[in-house]
Amino acid sequence: MTTLSKITFGMAALFTASFSVAVIGAQSKAPEEIKLPTPKPGQYEHKAPTLADIQNDKDLHPELRKVILKGRDLFMNTQQLRGEYVFNDMNCKSCHMGEGRMAWSGPIWPAATTLPDFRGKNGHVNSLEERIAGCFSFSMNGTPPAYGSDTMLALSAYHQYMAKGAKMYDKNIAGRGFGHLGKDIPEATTYANGEKVYQANCAICHGSDGAGKKFAGEIVYPPLWGDGSYNWGAGMTRIFTAASFIQNNMPLGQPGRLTDQEAWDVALFINSQERPQDPRYTGDAKETREKFMNFHNATVYGTEVNGKILGQHDNTGEKPFLKPEALKPRTFK
Ligand code: HEC
Ligand code: HEC
Repeated sequence: MTTLSKITFGMAALFTASFSVAVIGAQSKAPEEIKLPTPKPGQYEHKAPTLADIQNDKDLHPELRKVILKGRDLFMNTQQLRGEYVFNDMNCKSCHMGEGRMAWSGPIWPAATTLPDFRGKNGHVNSLEERIAGCFSFSMNGTPPAYGSDTMLALSAYHQYMAKGAKMYDKNIAGRGFGHLGKDIPEATTYANGEKVYQANCAICHGSDGAGKKFAGEIVYPPLWGDGSYNWGAGMTRIFTAASFIQNNMPLGQPGRLTDQEAWDVALFINSQERPQDPRYTGDAKETREKFMNFHNATVYGTEVNGKILGQHDNTGEKPFLKPEALKPRTFK
């Protein structure tokens, strides 16, 4: 082989390789291509226990093991509470990836080690149960199980066991929440490009109408907007939260396939679609936006998109009421 043909051959191989990557690209892009931040100095990482750990932990009283496993079951299949506490198509695990264990994908255990604490979202000190109640009220478009109930006990036990071995009251946690892309929406972010990214990468599972897909009555692909989705008060409506979640996890099984900019664009696109009302609604979306600006500064709720004010409606989805009892203020004298 001459040098030239070696080069040509090399190039052909390279071409074939990159071609097959482009095709398999639909399957796999090495997870290390996602630029997840390394822990900052002073931050600590925690590996939450797995299902096998729960099953094999000899220190667990059999009754406690049962309760933790029940909590895990409720977390994975929250639809069993449909119509009572859950009024959309979500399960807790739909957003808290890896059974609620995955760093940068909303690991749940930090709630068990940092609460009770003051929360800006509702302006008072919250317990672990109240934090769980928050996701019921907004992300599940529902209402929380009563504090102290069997369901709440099981869910809290699962959260708390996930924190086994983690530091108590130390907020220097690496990989908490979903924010690896940061909070600043790049100026180049557009709805139009988000729509293109959506139709090319997401519609196949989540549907071109964003309603998700069911097979034999089971929700296989959860909705991204509309009545079956999270409501206007949910953390996922914040563009930076959705962008990080999506870049890290979607399309499912192909994390990192989207560029950072594509993730921002598609996050803006899905969160510019209608969804059930924010339970804190005052009757006027612009006013509600102003009132809860520390939250809505990162959403497009109450702003005009395609000639309409987002969230200016009385639709609460399947939920027959607007505001759950649990969202009441708490003050200490
Ligand atoms: C639609 C997506 C979504 C669903 C469904 C959802 N959550 Fe969340 N959850 C979030 C977001 C977003 C946050 C805020 C994370 C952040 O601060 O960036 C969050 C935060 C939490 C936290 C606090 C974690 C911490 O770091 O302190 C807990 C606990 C939690 N959720 C539990 C649940 C439970 C239990 C359910 C089911 C009943 C649930 N979530 C359903 C999106 C969701
Ligand atoms: C192969 C199917 C598939 C594709 C393609 C896909 N998703 Fe998902 N998505 C899922 C599944 C399944 C879940 C729930 C995860 C779970 O339960 O483990 C999910 C969850 C989500 C969630 C959180 C839950 C919810 O419904 O709000 C968002 C947001 C999301 N996907 C956005 C996207 C975006 C944006 C794209 C395109 C870039 C995309 N997904 C592509 C299957 C897919």
